[in-house]
Amino acid sequence: MNNRSLSSQLFLSLLVAMGIISATSVLVAQDAVRSWMNPKLSPQERAELVLKQMTLDEKLALLHGNGMANNPTWTMPLTHLANGGAGYVEGVERLGIPPLIISDAAYGVRDSGVNGRYATAMPSNLGAASAWDPESACAYGEVIGSELRAQGFDMTLGGGVNLAREPRNGRTFEYAGEDPLLAGTIDGNMMKCEQAQHVVGDIKHYALNDQETGRNFVNAIISNRAMQESDLLAFHIAISIAHPGAVMCSYNRINGDYGCENSYTLRDVLKRDWGFQGFVISDWAATHSTEKASAAGLDQEEPMADYFGPKLKEAVAAGRVPLSEIDDHARRVLYAEFLSGVVDDPPRKSVVDVEKGLEVAQRVEEKSIVLLKNTRSVLPIIQSIHSIAIIGGHADVGMLSGGGSAQVDPPGGNAIMPAGKGETHWQDHIWFPTSPLKALRAQLPNTKIEYDSGIDLKSAVSLARSSDLAIVFAYQWIAEDMDLPSLSLPDNQDALIEQVAAVNPRTIVVLETGTAVTMPWLDKVAAVVEAWYAGSAGHKALANVLVGNVNPTGKLPITFPKSETDLPHPVIPPMPPQDQALSYTVHYDEGPAVGYKWYEAKDKQPLFAFGFGLSYTSYAYSGLSVDSAAKTVRFSVANTGKQTGTEIAEVYARLPKSADESFKRLVGWNRVRLAPGESQTVTVAIDPQVLQTYDDTTARWNFAPGDYEIVVGASSDNTPLTGSLSVH
Ligand code: BGC
Repeated sequence: MNNRSLSSQLFLSLLVAMGIISATSVLVAQDAVRSWMNPKLSPQERAELVLKQMTLDEKLALLHGNGMANNPTWTMPLTHLANGGAGYVEGVERLGIPPLIISDAAYGVRDSGVNGRYATAMPSNLGAASAWDPESACAYGEVIGSELRAQGFDMTLGGGVNLAREPRNGRTFEYAGEDPLLAGTIDGNMMKCEQAQHVVGDIKHYALNDQETGRNFVNAIISNRAMQESDLLAFHIAISIAHPGAVMCSYNRINGDYGCENSYTLRDVLKRDWGFQGFVISDWAATHSTEKASAAGLDQEEPMADYFGPKLKEAVAAGRVPLSEIDDHARRVLYAEFLSGVVDDPPRKSVVDVEKGLEVAQRVEEKSIVLLKNTRSVLPIIQSIHSIAIIGGHADVGMLSGGGSAQVDPPGGNAIMPAGKGETHWQDHIWFPTSPLKALRAQLPNTKIEYDSGIDLKSAVSLARSSDLAIVFAYQWIAEDMDLPSLSLPDNQDALIEQVAAVNPRTIVVLETGTAVTMPWLDKVAAVVEAWYAGSAGHKALANVLVGNVNPTGKLPITFPKSETDLPHPVIPPMPPQDQALSYTVHYDEGPAVGYKWYEAKDKQPLFAFGFGLSYTSYAYSGLSVDSAAKTVRFSVANTGKQTGTEIAEVYARLPKSADESFKRLVGWNRVRLAPGESQTVTVAIDPQVLQTYDDTTARWNFAPGDYEIVVGASSDNTPLTGSLSVH
């Protein structure tokens, strides 16, 4: 504080003490003195004004964490102020800058169990991406943001947008699929609306943290062009939509340098080229240096102060880190606080709006469920059906959730644990007490619905044989800090499904998975429904889809391969011995050909293509016209079936030869709601960036001149309409 404002403060305190003015008028007067408290100024102006008042120590305090609650290895003197969350950064009380009280919140607020609180579990982020719906992504973010605030947090660590380049990645459920436009749009809208609740937003893990195997040291090798057109593009789109206060740099190395000291990704791309003005926060214990990280663009070390605490202060004193760099880091943290509204409106603890959370969680899940197969008209289930066998997947008591730092704790504890054994580990398989059996019984009161655990195959088969319909609930659990050895269903579930399907031709498989799975039994079952990790109201959403109260609309945000041998990396490269950890490298030679692009480039047929999803009605596409100047495409979609439905109409582009690209790209989509027999003209505007290529020598995006083939349809492998867009 400068001398003038200090003497004004003293004078005001004197007037209160003498009873001449009230404390309230002091606050008003104080804000007049604290020019940065003027909400009419821009976040940049406010950050600059307050920065000028700060001492070096106050600035440095913004640049590191103070431990992590509920974690004995990461404890510091101020950890108790973290409100039970993942991190705490001191504010500057005398200047009205609140501390950052940080929680994980990928699909809901973490650690409500140990903190004695409640949080809604939204469907997994991958599930939400299957809705292809910015509006429901926004509603998703609003719920999480408001629950963070109610719990006393003002910063989220959600916002995972890493591409599903490696579908066995244990965090695939936390991300939004394999396409940069879809993932960036969904994640960006989610975080935009979350931050609008006045919590500092975050997009993570920047970048190429595409597998968990060896995540703390793996070196991802990829060309600049390839990363720009794939993983970085997803980040750029999400950041452009959300304007998050923070971006979290990742554990892994990228072309040799760690994500949190990588001057290419942080300084050159994120801050210089994209103009990101918020701060870069390290992933937890992902900081490896002081000078190098600071110069590369890391602004805040978490959760400790090993490199950005005393060592940073020493480096400043010795002139190894310029003061201008410290100012830049601190200014960014302050900017994020003003931008997100946490200075003007710090969190006040309150009761989480449980009903609202459940309502939104159900609505989002209803849009996220993907109908993958439906033959013999088994779905929707008709009221007159006499008997249903529900088999496996703990469907009597609950539905599965994804683990790790994303884990949301279920009310009452894990549904499959004996009462009283409440303690959970971050890699336990956690089942929410959301019983699909009960939800279906409520929807079909006149049907005999019985359950068999599926553990004893004979008993499951016998129930299936004597029932009109069999529904097998199959699960695949994934979590942070692990990758799947394969995409097969675990625990003998393939055999269970085969045997049930062998005795009941009307077998439906409901999948609760965090990523793609292989389905050796696909031809033998009548229907397959992908419910993902369905969240706090997933059972109700699922029952609504199964009985036809809700017509499914979801489409896959990730390709389901026939087998791992079709993946760019049939196996995840094995790790070297521990003493050679730093030699661990993964070569992303497939470059930008992630997911469906890889299958097209290599002419391989997937099991289910990106963008695929059925409905209880049918649609027909016609009449494509392309406006090259405006970069818009128009076409008609008609509902040719008997039920109202919403079709996600997808637009792809193949670039001219000069772009040297052997696959099409998703360039836009639209959700179209149609009554039976109705037809609508749909217009999709193409964002020019998704048509461009990145030139590494000039570090610029360009249009490859020539004709772009535009194809439109219901999925990446079903595009009946073809047109041309020219760029010259
Ligand atoms: C994860 C981050 C998370 C952080 C704090 C790390 O292990 O990679 O996603 O936000 O922990 O819990």
